[in-house]
Amino acid sequence: MGVVVLTMKAAVIEMVLVLLVTGIHSNKEMTKKIKRPKFTVPQINCDVKAGKIINPEFIVKCPAGCQDPKYHVYGTNVYASSSSVCAAAVHSGVLDNSGGKVLVQKVAGQSGYRESYSNGIQSLSLPRWRESFVVSEGKPQKGVTYPSALTYSSAKSPAAKADETTKAYQKPSVPGTTAQPVTLMQVPGTTSAEGTHTTLPKPSPPAGSAASSPRPQPVGHRSRELDLWSTTTSQNSPRANPGDTDLWKPGSVLLDAGFVPNEETSTQPLDPASQGDPSCKVDLAFLIDGSSSIGSRRFRIQKQFLADVAQALDIGPAGPLVGVVQYGDNPATQFNLKTHMSSRDLKAAIEKITQRGGLSNVGRAISFVTKNFFSKANGNRGGAPNVAVVLVDGWPTDKVEEASRLARESGINIFFITMEGAAEHEKPYVMEPNFASKAVCRTNGFYSISVPSWLSLHKSVQPLVKRVCDTDRLACSKTCFNSADVGFVIDGSSSVGTGHFRTVLQFVANLSREFEISDTDTRIGAVQYTYEQRLEFGFDTYSTKPDILNAIKRVGYWSGGTSTGAAINYALEQLFKESKPNKRKLMILITDGKSYDDIRIPAMAAHHKGVITYAVGIAWAAQDELDVIATHPAKDHAFFVDEFDNLYKLVPKVIQNICTEFNSQPRN
Ligand SMILES: *[C@@H]1O[C@H](CO)[C@@H](O)[C@H](O)[C@H]1NC(C)=O
Repeated sequence: MGVVVLTMKAAVIEMVLVLLVTGIHSNKEMTKKIKRPKFTVPQINCDVKAGKIINPEFIVKCPAGCQDPKYHVYGTNVYASSSSVCAAAVHSGVLDNSGGKVLVQKVAGQSGYRESYSNGIQSLSLPRWRESFVVSEGKPQKGVTYPSALTYSSAKSPAAKADETTKAYQKPSVPGTTAQPVTLMQVPGTTSAEGTHTTLPKPSPPAGSAASSPRPQPVGHRSRELDLWSTTTSQNSPRANPGDTDLWKPGSVLLDAGFVPNEETSTQPLDPASQGDPSCKVDLAFLIDGSSSIGSRRFRIQKQFLADVAQALDIGPAGPLVGVVQYGDNPATQFNLKTHMSSRDLKAAIEKITQRGGLSNVGRAISFVTKNFFSKANGNRGGAPNVAVVLVDGWPTDKVEEASRLARESGINIFFITMEGAAEHEKPYVMEPNFASKAVCRTNGFYSISVPSWLSLHKSVQPLVKRVCDTDRLACSKTCFNSADVGFVIDGSSSVGTGHFRTVLQFVANLSREFEISDTDTRIGAVQYTYEQRLEFGFDTYSTKPDILNAIKRVGYWSGGTSTGAAINYALEQLFKESKPNKRKLMILITDGKSYDDIRIPAMAAHHKGVITYAVGIAWAAQDELDVIATHPAKDHAFFVDEFDNLYKLVPKVIQNICTEFNSQPRN
């Protein structure tokens, strides 16, 4: 209904406008303003970015519903032209979520855009962008003629695109010179505007070169091109000329600058039957930076790096497997883990990758990899650690923290290679200044490599290969489900009764089912106690889930007293003494009554030995005893239900707390 009303509203507005234009001649102001008799306000969708429209000033009609986080807005008051026009209008308060007309004026690019929350829209911050716009009420200004039809920057065919990205780049404008965006944008791919701009921070790809839809031409989120040029200039002064794009053909400046392409080794034929290096059995995802700001030269260096890594790793079904995801505005899988099963095939595929362009949305790419990349269908092997190596030029344009946390929790070992990170004066523009440490698997330095200059990236090949192959140190492969020795301590006293004892065993089985069980993953052991104690099975007795579940089922009810303290001591001696040093030690004690003996000292001993103790009490169990047995804080480690029939409710709670605690460990 809302839509109908809105449509009607729009129709009424249009009618009124037509009346104004055609009928009300007596209004002098009006006739002056609208010179052309058929001025109609063009309509756009919520997703249209200002940079897509070439006109320097225009009025457009926005539909309803643009107040949606999927329409990105960069800046406050002055917006980067990579923003949605209509969403920016809502953010600035010119429109509400029901749409309407808005006047857009292009202004110069800024050296930074501030994020803010306003009118239900969270705008994002962005460093340097080539062009901006401001929005105001959609009323025609006196003496200005507004276009009835907008001119869009043209989209190229995909074939043309692929070609363009490696060719000459149109130079970006310098902030302050963007007053005539039309002249800058009308001839994408040509160099007509170059002569006027001599101190350019960064090349930018031609309009429409980036992806399927025409895009604005980002200057990029920083100005590193100069650094790179100055590096080469100092070493090749007679030849280095920022306008000479051919300099970056492989083998020219690169060689002179000390960058030696690995040509000899890379052209050597590999053994086609190689099964891969079994000592480096990892499933690797490379997330490569395809953002516009990286430029074609850096993109090529990045590919060379990837090819060198592919060469250094002996890829194969029994060794490492590699897939590549390229990110820009959105991520896309170039190929998955099983597409290329040898170093040679992989290198050939890397060579064919073309740049996508767009922003540098690293967080989005990490989410994508977590959700989509490491699936069985994509060749993910259960037994191989998952590793994601994220290459970032400068810094990301979105946030990485939350996406990375989820990735880590799903066991992905995130490495970051950051090239030419933010300089001190650029840090205010970085959304998360310490993004790499928020993202990586551990913050101990093992998982991040910071490369000061693109020209030295090749030096990181060997260190990276060494680290990703060091499977013992890949800590993020460890999850709350696959890295513990779980010892159950089960009260078999007379008060429990045969029927309820079955329920307790079901509970133990249901908890065990949640873990990944094998001799290298989580292992399960069990002790039953009354006055006495007995080992039902140890951590190394069984190594598969079905065997464990069967063993639990077969535990016979003992019946007797309740010496919980002695049982804890026994479990430490008989179960946890056999626990592996690299495993988390979890004790889950289940009791239905008060202990006959002292529990304080045994409980302290357990805590002291690093055994994380969960106390599950039923019926007559005493809360104060549970709190003493449980690891601190007791509210996270002690559980109580008043009836055996409610025990099942604790399964998800216990598991959740185990995982929450696991994931809250410091990452270093
Ligand atoms: C164990 O799981 C089964 C199957 O989901 C359920 O029917 C039963 O109630 C659970 N029992 C306990 C004690 O958790």
